[in-house]
Amino acid sequence: EKDGHDWFMRKEIFEQPKALADSLLGRRGRTGQLELDEMRLSDDEIRDIDKIIIVACGTAFYAGLVAKYAIEHWTRVPVEVELASEFRYRDPILTRSTLVVAISQSGETADTLQALRHARTQRSRVLAICNTNGSTIPRESDAVIYTHAGPEIGVASTKGFLTQLVACYLLALYVAQVKGTRFGDEIDEVLGQLEAIPDQVQRVLDDAESVYALARDSIEERTVLFLGRHAGYPVALEGALKLKELAYLHAEGFAGGELKHGPIALVEDGLPVLCVVPPRGRDQLHQKMLSAISEVRARGARTICLAEEGDPAVAAIADVVISLPRVPVLMQPLVATVPLQLFACELATLLGHDVDQPRNLAKSVTVE
Ligand code: F6R
Repeated sequence: EKDGHDWFMRKEIFEQPKALADSLLGRRGRTGQLELDEMRLSDDEIRDIDKIIIVACGTAFYAGLVAKYAIEHWTRVPVEVELASEFRYRDPILTRSTLVVAISQSGETADTLQALRHARTQRSRVLAICNTNGSTIPRESDAVIYTHAGPEIGVASTKGFLTQLVACYLLALYVAQVKGTRFGDEIDEVLGQLEAIPDQVQRVLDDAESVYALARDSIEERTVLFLGRHAGYPVALEGALKLKELAYLHAEGFAGGELKHGPIALVEDGLPVLCVVPPRGRDQLHQKMLSAISEVRARGARTICLAEEGDPAVAAIADVVISLPRVPVLMQPLVATVPLQLFACELATLLGHDVDQPRNLAKSVTVE
């Protein structure tokens, strides 16, 4: 049942190329237009959307944080991302033109469910992104995009997360298509980029051994920091969450630019800092990330860089490089998250922890 793997989590990590391909299957209509059959919102309703609020918990919340970069870029609709447990209590501004997107792998998370119920009382439209057919969250939503990851049994979300990203991206492209934003011509190109991801994730998985070696070198660590920028920032948060929940380590993710505003004070000799390096050649993100890495390195940090293959500037300042396929910046979370999942899974295994059932955690959190 675990396909020869020691844990469901590891099996599910290795299933991601298929999960991603399944989530993308059948989305191109006959005319080349993107089709989302469970969408159920009319074109008029979509044209009317003037704000999107994403509500979710945990890893699904980080999927929302990544999605914000893509949705705003492609649709020019403002996006807020909020922890479902905080949402209702701040009297959020909701109208009929607000689309609330509830992301939940299980479809049963109580906080997310309560957030969507609140949104519906304010007459906002609610769209669920969910992996579990017929669960409560999609049943109570106006529209659904199902992810097709297959059952996720390991408590830590892995293929759930990557397929949530795909679903959010499909939603963004669909809204862009219906609204006819200036980005419209590129929809086909971005779909092509998404369709290339399963093979690229497979390449990352084929190189799992380099991540396992890193885990073997890390069994003495008590603290690990994660740095990222742009869409790589939520990836850093997700990497830290995986390490907390599975390896019970103190792990924190920061935005690269925030280092000098406080976190750099934590850096001391030998501290491992895992850096998600943005692809080369976009804005100054890559360069700025390299400066952040140099700064922590100058203070003695052990720099572990996830960076696109053959990046000489990274090779010069990294103690360890984990290579990623070359992809556009908005696609990078889909490949960069995978080594972080493998790292947490392997480190927790080496430390003798139960990876599928981490202490104190439940697969679906049905209490608020
Ligand atoms: C982390 C993890 C949790 C869930 C969160 C939301 O690995 O699995 O943080 O992501 O409890 O669960 P769903 O997506 O089922 O609403």
